[in-house]
Amino acid sequence: MIDATASAYVFDAYGTLFDVHAAIAHHRAAAGPEAERFSEIWRQKQLEYTWTLTLAGHYVDFWTLTERALDYAFARVPSVDHVLRARLLDAYLKLDAFADARAALAELKAQGARLAILSNGAPRMLAAAVEAAALSGLLDAVLSVDAVRMYKPRPEVYALAAERLAVKPSGIIFVSSNRWDVMGAASFGFDAFWVNRARLPDEYAELATPRQIPDLAALPRTAR
Ligand code: LAC
Repeated sequence: MIDATASAYVFDAYGTLFDVHAAIAHHRAAAGPEAERFSEIWRQKQLEYTWTLTLAGHYVDFWTLTERALDYAFARVPSVDHVLRARLLDAYLKLDAFADARAALAELKAQGARLAILSNGAPRMLAAAVEAAALSGLLDAVLSVDAVRMYKPRPEVYALAAERLAVKPSGIIFVSSNRWDVMGAASFGFDAFWVNRARLPDEYAELATPRQIPDLAALPRTAR
C-alpha cells in the first residue's frame, strides 16, 4: 500500500553514483592517447543499445550490452590494445564511486531518509559496484530494470521504484546525472534533480525544467 506521506531518495547508478570513466582511468597509460575517446564510445554505445532494443521491444541484460559496447569501442579505436578487454570489464564491475557519493548518502541516511538505487544495471553488476564502494549499509533497496525487462526512460522502470518503495511518484526525489534519465523520471512524476557535474547545456525544453545541482552534496534534505 502507498503511504501518501512517505518519501524516498532514488539514485541513478552509472554516471551518478559510479564514474563510468573510472574503468579506463585505471588503465589510462596502457590504453594510450585515445583512451578518452574510447571510453566515450563505450558509454555511448552501451546506452544506445538500451534505447534501440527497448524501442524495438527486445531486452538483453546490461552486462551483455556493456560487453558488446566495449567490443564495438575496440573495433572503432584499434589503437587501444585488446589485451585490456578483461581488465576493463573487471574494472567496470568495481567502478569507483564519485568522491561525493558516500558522504552524501551517509548524511541523508543519518537524517532518517530512505535511499535506493534504480538502474539499468544488471543485478550482479549493481551488487558488485555497491559492495566495492561500501554503500550497501546505506541503501534500503537496489532496483534493476531487469525486473521489468526494459530500459530507462520507459515509464514502467520508474513505476518499479514507486511500487517497490510504496511511495507515490511525487514523493520520490530522483537524482541522476543523465539528463535523459531525469527527463524520464520527471515525466513519470518524480521530483527530479539533475546532477550536472560537467555543466552541460540543458535539453528537453518542451518538458518541465528539472532542478539542477552541481554535485550530490547540494541535494535538499527534506525526505523522511
Ligand atoms: C543507469 C544508467 C543510466 O545506471 O547508466 O541506469
